[in-house]
Amino acid sequence: MKRTTPLRMGVIGCGAIGTLHANAIRQSNLATLLAVCDTDFAKAETLGMAGSKAQAFSSFEKMLADTPLDAVTVATPDRLHLQPVLAAIRQGLHVFCEKPLAGTAAEAARLVRAARTGGVQLGVDYNRRFAFGYQKAKQLLDAGCAGSVCQVAFHVCDGVPAKVASQPHALLTSLLSHHIDLLRFLCGEIISVQALFHGPSRNRPHDVSLIAQFASGAVGSITAGWRNGQARTVEHLRLAGTQGVVIVDDVQHAVTLWHATPDDAQRFQPDYFAGGNRFYDSVTAHVAAFIAALSAGKTVPVTAEDGWAGLRLIEAAIESNRTGRRTKLSP
Ligand SMILES: NC(=O)c1ccc[n+]([C@@H]2O[C@H](COP(=O)([O-])OP(=O)(O)OC[C@H]3O[C@@H](n4cnc5c(N)ncnc54)[C@H](O)[C@@H]3O)[C@@H](O)[C@H]2O)c1
Repeated sequence: MKRTTPLRMGVIGCGAIGTLHANAIRQSNLATLLAVCDTDFAKAETLGMAGSKAQAFSSFEKMLADTPLDAVTVATPDRLHLQPVLAAIRQGLHVFCEKPLAGTAAEAARLVRAARTGGVQLGVDYNRRFAFGYQKAKQLLDAGCAGSVCQVAFHVCDGVPAKVASQPHALLTSLLSHHIDLLRFLCGEIISVQALFHGPSRNRPHDVSLIAQFASGAVGSITAGWRNGQARTVEHLRLAGTQGVVIVDDVQHAVTLWHATPDDAQRFQPDYFAGGNRFYDSVTAHVAAFIAALSAGKTVPVTAEDGWAGLRLIEAAIESNRTGRRTKLSP
């Protein structure tokens, strides 16, 4: 497969998130944005003209056939990732796909196999891994500051995005896919889950409580809900280890490390004026890391296997809520 520098890239899906991807590609000196595509052609045209010129298309098949590219971003709605990702892989292109990787774990497995067979890389945009709070927590854990993690607890609360409100299990697929991924990112593989959902209907819960068992032996939980009308998004993470406790009070602003010694704490905050306070900077940072990895011939930061694992865990949680039992994950 021929590769050029800078990487020749395209974006499929020019909505809110596709626009962020296009902007991030345009900011990179390792990539150039050549083409953009949306079934709503006006959106593609607008994005194509919004910086260095990129050719606009209304069909991804035509864009892939007409434009010599090395990689594409797929930022179509959740249930519409499969076809453009498969088409790009078949064309021999690397792909950066928005989360969740696919509509089901079986579809995700198909994409993992296709990318392996095609010898291309397929990344998944779990951008929260690149947000200040979680980057800092990962650094502290990797440096052994908290010892071995024994327990982890997430509390998440957000409004319901209108775009996904009617989608079954959107709380899990749209929002909590990030936090399930973060549990794996920070604490390793999850081997079983137990879940309880609360109304308004079984397929559209607005509150979820999920317990996870890690391969390391540690235990964890996520308690989360959609809450329209609340003042702001809340994300609070607490990781307790054998030597200390790491608390992410707020994804963008503050991480605290409590040492084993009582009353001995360190607080970490990004430089407010350096721009570290904007959450969607994490998408820009992830796009840059994806491009840098491809350019250096390295594995991309978040792989298709991570995307597949996330969807298997979501389906395991749905099964657990249905059966009332813990669901074990096969290796
Ligand atoms: N990483 C994050 O933090 C984050 C945040 C929000 C959304 N997302 C994900 O990003 C994806 C897009 O979300 P969004 O909010 O930008 O949605 P959006 O509705 O704003 O944009 C999606 C665009 O895709 C276009 N589209 C649909 N089918 C297409 C096709 N076959 N070919 C080309 N274009 C097509 C639509 O016309 C629309 O413009 C979703 O998977 C969503 O879950 C990720």
